Amino acid sequence: MAKNEPRDELLNHDFDGIQEYDNQLPGWWKNLFYLTIVFAVIYLLYFHVFSVGDLQKVSYLKDIDPDYVPSPQDQEGAVFDAYRAPVYAASEQRTPFDRAQANAEAYERFEQNMLEAMRNADAAQLARLQEDFPAIFEAYTAQGGRLPAGVAAAEAEAATISEPITDAAILAGAKDLFGQHCATCHGDAGQGGIGPNLTDEYWLHGAKIANVVRVIQKGIPAKGMIAWEKTLSPDEINAMASFVLVELQGSNPPNPKAPEGDKVSE
Ligand code: HEC
Repeated sequence: MAKNEPRDELLNHDFDGIQEYDNQLPGWWKNLFYLTIVFAVIYLLYFHVFSVGDLQKVSYLKDIDPDYVPSPQDQEGAVFDAYRAPVYAASEQRTPFDRAQANAEAYERFEQNMLEAMRNADAAQLARLQEDFPAIFEAYTAQGGRLPAGVAAAEAEAATISEPITDAAILAGAKDLFGQHCATCHGDAGQGGIGPNLTDEYWLHGAKIANVVRVIQKGIPAKGMIAWEKTLSPDEINAMASFVLVELQGSNPPNPKAPEGDKVSE
């Protein structure tokens, strides 16, 4: 270093007493920085401009379906296309799953793969698959597939009552729960509202305890009756079903909703 070269010269600015030397940044730091620039260019060309590498969407689709052949629409690799047409434009199907569903053939293949996966899954995976793909899970159970451990246990427990419970304390507890969870739709006294009248002899889904337990557990999602199995325990559901049959049935509350369904006389 030449003798008269200025060293550690203070720059002439000062922010609240903080001053700065005119030192160079260390070489390793700058080299690292240049490396990131080079990397970014390679990355951009590799993934976005020439589409040599699979973006995560296509690589996901290949994971779930080894025979998957990317469509140009899935690739969306060309950098300018991707930015001009946002992936999540409202008119577009949102996820690979939606898109697979839109394409019947692809969906069928997807479903077969998922069914296969369900057959080979352990209980925890099965529970997740059930949550992520309810429709396929239903098809799986319809084929006699086994249930995740927790659900199987809950179903077995729920299925244990064959007669309504008549214990007064349990029915009183169920009455409170009914007020909290069900009255908004079925009325305070079960007389009906958004949901059907639960006090008359007309039933949409059957008047047996097993029918009522099942409706409360699984709901009728398409018609606005919620599935309660995630909110209420099997015991609570048994108690609620018993409450409907033992206390609400035949109670003749004021302002009943018109009957719906078939008359069931016992
Ligand atoms: C968000 C509104 C809503 C809530 C809350 C609700 N239900 Fe329902 N429920 C409905 C609707 C709507 C139906 C009718 C479904 C149909 O048309 O198939 C129904 C149907 C039923 C049936 C079957 C009636 C029949 O005729 O077969 C029973 C039993 C029932 N609900 C019990 C309950 C219980 C117990 C609760 C509380 C844990 C509850 N519901 C909470 C809306 C609701």
